[in-house]
Amino acid sequence: MDVHVSLVGRKDLTGEIYRQLRRAIVDGRLKSGQTLPPTRELARRLSVARTTVTVAYDRLAGEGFVTSRVGSGTCVSAQAARAPQEAKRPSGPGALRPRPVWASIPLTTAFDRPARFDFRTGVPDATLFPHEQWRRLMARELRAEAAGTGVYAHPAGCPPLREAIARHIGISRGVEASAEDFTVTNGTQQAVDIIARVLLAAGDRVAVEDPGYPPPRRLFESLGIRVVGVPVDQEGLVVDALPRGVRLIYVTPSHQWPLGGTLTLARRLALLAWAERNDAAIIEDDYDSEFRFQGRPIEPLQTLDTTGRVVYVGSFSKTLLPTLRLGFLVTPPSLRDAVHRAKYVTDWHTSTLPQATLARFIDTGEFARHLRKIGRVYQARHETITRILAEGFTDHLELVPSAAGLHVAAVARRASAGEIAEVARRASRAGVEVQQLSTFGVAAPAPPGLLLGYGAIPTARIEEGLRRLRACWEG
Ligand SMILES: Cc1ncc(COP(=O)(O)O)c(C=O)c1O
Repeated sequence: MDVHVSLVGRKDLTGEIYRQLRRAIVDGRLKSGQTLPPTRELARRLSVARTTVTVAYDRLAGEGFVTSRVGSGTCVSAQAARAPQEAKRPSGPGALRPRPVWASIPLTTAFDRPARFDFRTGVPDATLFPHEQWRRLMARELRAEAAGTGVYAHPAGCPPLREAIARHIGISRGVEASAEDFTVTNGTQQAVDIIARVLLAAGDRVAVEDPGYPPPRRLFESLGIRVVGVPVDQEGLVVDALPRGVRLIYVTPSHQWPLGGTLTLARRLALLAWAERNDAAIIEDDYDSEFRFQGRPIEPLQTLDTTGRVVYVGSFSKTLLPTLRLGFLVTPPSLRDAVHRAKYVTDWHTSTLPQATLARFIDTGEFARHLRKIGRVYQARHETITRILAEGFTDHLELVPSAAGLHVAAVARRASAGEIAEVARRASRAGVEVQQLSTFGVAAPAPPGLLLGYGAIPTARIEEGLRRLRACWEG
């Protein structure tokens, strides 16, 4: 990439070019070994005589900032480039300061280096991504006639994608909504952000599952919204424990995060009735509903809802890739326009190229085939992990029953949270990455235990990974 040089006025042009290039070298934007633009090219770009540039380069060379070699151009010399100057970015008094809330929001460590035996949650198997088909469909969308007019698109998302998702979710989950009720988002996280903007103000109260999925909670906190943790039992969220005055409830009914249970039908109906009585909204994060290995799926809250209180949220992070940042929300008609406006002020719209590619991927039936294929792989991993935990870990861990998703939770039988932390540390040293259940509590720490994800770990490594994990109890 070429360094930026700009000239204002017509005085001392050589001096100006010299000073700007020297600054770029000194503050580290131009690194040692990097070449400066050829003098002829820079002169053309700046509309000056070539000698104006040549003299500036000669001066830089004379002072040792650059070296010129015939045939290989002018490069920044090794001794000239220094680290960026801290003095220009003060961190002491007078520096810009973020609001205090940001100090309490940790950055996720999910993007750390992968482990040899990677049982982390929240990540799918990237090797299962349909690279070939995706490349082919994306190339098609890149053709000039498919690229469209170049103007911004509608915040709700590309119509073919909204229609494709509406059809798919209508069939696979029974979600009753028309394409107009769908808004394409950059994943679940943005869907939650949009709903929060549309429905909530600073100081409002939101209920989340305890233990629960941290990112939406952090988002609410960053907006000045008060978050209340509500306990979860074998049937899911304990509706009777919901405090009054809550304006919105965020739930993961298909696969409670992190414990892994399913919100029972009785609790779903109780939750809807509670929301109606208390004039509250519900965000139904239906993540992992695509991966159900036993039993019949329970109807989504969105379908059971008769009063338009549920916002249904879906994501392609597990079924395709989290890096695509593609998700969607389904809103009751009363919120539709405000949701489009909130999406517009947030980022105008989601990138249209992946949207168009995904629309074709769903329409051609390839997405449904892909889901069947990866579902079989994840089911095999789920069976392997639950079998080994049931056979070899009973003295240490009690598996929480779960019939869906890409991870299982296991509660410690005797060990304290501190002892489990030690097991996780030893495991990490043995190349086995696991997460601790206790860290996902909201009001108080969750029970000591482990979460074992099987999105990232190849089936063939599960047995050895768990054997190593087992050894970590012995020290
Ligand atoms: C509970 C829950 N919801 C949603 C997601 C997906 O989030 P996003 O679509 O923002 O990638 C995850 C990913 O791990 C999750 O655990």
